[in-house]
Amino acid sequence: MMFEKILTRYGFDPGAAVLPFGDGLINHTWKVHTEGKNYILQQVNQHVFKSPADIDQNLNLLKNYLSKAKPEYLFISPIATLNGDSLVHIDARYYRMFPFVEGSKSLNALKSADEAYEAAKQFAKFSKILADFEVTKLNITIPDFHNLSLRYDQFTAACRQAPADRLFQAKDCIAFINEQQEIVHTYFQILNDVNIPLRVIHHDTKISNVLFDNQAKGLCVIDLDTVMPGYFFSDVGDMMRTYLCGATEEDTDFEKITIRKDFFTAVYRGYMEEMGDVLTLQEKRHFFNSGKFIIYMQGIRFLTDFLQNDCYYGAKYEGHNLNRATNQIVLLRQYLNAEKELLESVTIPR
Ligand SMILES: Nc1ncnc2c1ncn2[C@@H]1O[C@H](COP(=O)(O)OP(=O)(O)OP(=O)(O)O)[C@@H](O)[C@H]1O
Ligand SMILES: [Mg+2]
Repeated sequence: MMFEKILTRYGFDPGAAVLPFGDGLINHTWKVHTEGKNYILQQVNQHVFKSPADIDQNLNLLKNYLSKAKPEYLFISPIATLNGDSLVHIDARYYRMFPFVEGSKSLNALKSADEAYEAAKQFAKFSKILADFEVTKLNITIPDFHNLSLRYDQFTAACRQAPADRLFQAKDCIAFINEQQEIVHTYFQILNDVNIPLRVIHHDTKISNVLFDNQAKGLCVIDLDTVMPGYFFSDVGDMMRTYLCGATEEDTDFEKITIRKDFFTAVYRGYMEEMGDVLTLQEKRHFFNSGKFIIYMQGIRFLTDFLQNDCYYGAKYEGHNLNRATNQIVLLRQYLNAEKELLESVTIPR
C-alpha cells in the first residue's frame, strides 16, 4: 500500500517488486525492480536526521554543481518524481529514490589493506572534486557531530553528575581521558588555524558506504546524509579508528586490539593520492592527529553514555558502554604507541 503510493509518484508500475536491501542501520533501504531499471528506495531516519529537507537540498546543490564542474564523477543523488521532487513525504515519513548502481557491491567488513586504500581514495576524491564548491552553502545535517570540545564538556558534566557506582567502575577510563586532555587543546589549535579550512566532508567513512566494482576497485561513495561542512580530520580520523584494527568497537577481547601498519599506509596512500595536492601543509602535519581526535572522541562518547546510564547508545548488557569506551581507549593507547613507527612508514611534513 505504502509502496504503491510512492511508486506512483515516480510514474513507476505500482506493482513493481520492492525488496529489503543491504545492511544499513540508519535508514530503511529497499531495492525497487522496475522494467529495465533498478532503484534504491530509502526511508530517512528522522530520529537521526531531524530535517530530511536539509539533506535533500544539500544533495541537489552538489548534484547541480558537479553536473557542470565534474560531469564524469559518479554522484549518486535522488531522482525526481513526476512533480520534480527529489524527496517524498507520505504519511509523515520521508522517502527518496536513487538509481541502483548495477554491478556494484559494498563490503560489510574490511578484509584487506587494498580495500582500505580504495575506500580512502574514494572519500578523498569526493572532497577533492568539491574543493572549489562554496562549502558554507551546505546545511548542517547533524549539529556538532564531530565537535570534540562539546563532547569533552559533556563528559566533564557527566562526571559531576554520575551515580557513584558507575563513577567508580569507570575510574581508570576517566583517568586516561583526563591524562590525554592535550588532544582537546590540539583540536582547538586546528579550529583557530586559518590554514585548516572547512571542506565538504563525508563524515561517515564506514566501509559499507563505498561501492566497489567486480574488480574490487572503488567506484564512488554513497550514504551522503552526513555530508556537510567539516574538517579533513573527520574522515581521515574515522578511517584510522575503524580501518586500522581488525577488531570492532564491540569487541571485548581487548588483546585483539592492535594496529595494522599496512592498513595505515594504505589509508595514507589512498587519501593522499587524491587530496595530496589539495590539503594545506598544516592539514598534512595533522594527518596522524586526525586519528587521535576521532578515537578519543568516540571513547569519550561511550564513557559519557555509561556515566549517564546508557541513555543515548543504549546497552545490550550491563557495562556495555564501559566496555565500548575501554575498547576505544585501548585502541587509542595502541595508536599512540605506534606513532613513531607509523610516521616512519609515510612522508608527513614536519
Ligand atoms: N545507489 C545504490 N546502488 C547500489 N547499492 C546501494 C545504493 N545505495 C545504497 N546501496 C546499498 O544499500 C546499503 C545501505 O545504504 P546506506 O548506506 O545509504 O544506508 P544507511 O542505513 O544510511 O546505512 P548506515 O547504516 O551506513 O548509516 C549500502 O551499504 C549499499 O550496499
Ligand atoms: Mg551506510
